[in-house]
Amino acid sequence: MTLPEFDTVLVVDFGAQYAQLIARRVREAHVYSEIVPHTITAEEIEARKPAGVIFSGGPASVHAEGAPRIDQRVYELGTPVLGICYGAQLVALQLGGEVAKTGRGEYGRTSLQLTGPSELLGDDQPGDQTVWMSHFDTIVGAPPGFSITASTADTPGAVLESPARRIYGMQFHPEVAHTPYGQAMLKRFLYDVCGARPTWTMSSVIETQVEAIRKQVGGERVICGLSGGVDSAVAAALVHKAIGPQLTCVYVDTGLMREGESDQVVETFQRNLKIELQHVRAGDRFFERLAGVVDPEEKRKAIGERFIREFEVAARGLEDARFLVQGTLYPDVIESGTPEAAKIKSHHNVGGLPDDLNFELVEPLRLLFKDEVRKVGEELGLPEEIVWRQPFPGPGLGVRIIGEVTPERAELLRKADAIVRDEVHKAGLDREIWQVFAVLLADVRSVGVMGDERTYGHPVVIRAVTSDDAMTADWARLPYDLLEKLSSRIINEVAGVNRVAYDITSKPPGTIEWE
Ligand code: XMP
Repeated sequence: MTLPEFDTVLVVDFGAQYAQLIARRVREAHVYSEIVPHTITAEEIEARKPAGVIFSGGPASVHAEGAPRIDQRVYELGTPVLGICYGAQLVALQLGGEVAKTGRGEYGRTSLQLTGPSELLGDDQPGDQTVWMSHFDTIVGAPPGFSITASTADTPGAVLESPARRIYGMQFHPEVAHTPYGQAMLKRFLYDVCGARPTWTMSSVIETQVEAIRKQVGGERVICGLSGGVDSAVAAALVHKAIGPQLTCVYVDTGLMREGESDQVVETFQRNLKIELQHVRAGDRFFERLAGVVDPEEKRKAIGERFIREFEVAARGLEDARFLVQGTLYPDVIESGTPEAAKIKSHHNVGGLPDDLNFELVEPLRLLFKDEVRKVGEELGLPEEIVWRQPFPGPGLGVRIIGEVTPERAELLRKADAIVRDEVHKAGLDREIWQVFAVLLADVRSVGVMGDERTYGHPVVIRAVTSDDAMTADWARLPYDLLEKLSSRIINEVAGVNRVAYDITSKPPGTIEWE
């Protein structure tokens, strides 16, 4: 079998958050992209044989002291270059154009006019279109050999082009949704200028990874910890496709999972995918260890340690296993600096396993962004509820019980949480909301009245947030009638709860979880 070859576009990161977004847009055009630091040398770029290079935006002014530059020899490689925002100013400055400090910024939606024949703004785009600007300095003079093909009121040189050298610059951000023709422009650069082939599809990713996994593990046994989350589930399904019965999955049921979660993992992996699965029912041992523990850090530690012990026991029964599957994703790889330095995701996926387990890692998702992982999962036939599952902390409901964790309290919270998820699902809001769940204030009680009876029960807090990456989040503006339904159902159906509150704190200053 010949594997599809992927043309690569390198996205040079100049320090803004835009590099990841650009890389994702390139991949949406089915061209493989990788993010590299701006300290990369021309030789290093050449060695990668990229189809093209894109410079990202950056927070700094090109005139600021210590502003990041790119190795000047990059422009002599003959590899196509597209500079975006800061990247465009850098192209202008390093090749002899003029970038002026106008003392006036340009932010938000801006009207862009075509002023000459353009390779990037084709006939399929209007001569006058909206683009998204966010910059301070302005390109006022094109470098020798370049023509200015589009302008805005405040930016004479909004698009620079040199078809002869295959070097381009755009002052605005084609990667954001506020630039409606941005993706069309990127595609023109990728396909027409770079000649990149659109072969990066999830089916070819699966094909390539299957081959790579087989090559890495040969005939050896492989072990994979399932957490119930998307990443470990997709990683397991992919490895199973590659090596079938050589894979054994371990699912540690901590007793702190959401309602129906354990059944679904068993159903999906054991019954449907026919993957060998060790279902470790460890709830009792977790609760025993958690008795009397109230401090959140201590609680996390207790759960983490218990988890490792359970996993070790399961792994000991599989002594011939030399490989461990990890659901590491591309953003984890980038964040850890160099790809080589990527650490095992601590508490993610499998509760943070110690190094002395001595496994060689199999990481079939390390090239992928989260949205790609979901697509791979869909293509591998995983059910929607797993593929679109919201993030869920490793220590599970344990961190959502404020106070000591007991089996009764976990059961109470599980019921309240199931109602919240059920109603949000029925309201059709699943995909708009990053996370929605219930928190039990187990150490708080307040007075209420139900029928003729005075009650003295616990409050449940509903937490719903919108977010892109969990780094920042806003509280979701859930409709009042949905909140009303949640409140009445939880109080009527969950004994011991007599009050429901809605958390209206964003992150920062709050966190998403309560703990
Ligand atoms: P915070 O509460 O810090 O949470 O705003 C940010 C995101 O991380 C998730 N989270 C965890 N995920 N293991 C995980 O896999 C954990 O121990 C853990 N703690 C928090 C949280 O749900 C949110 O999405």
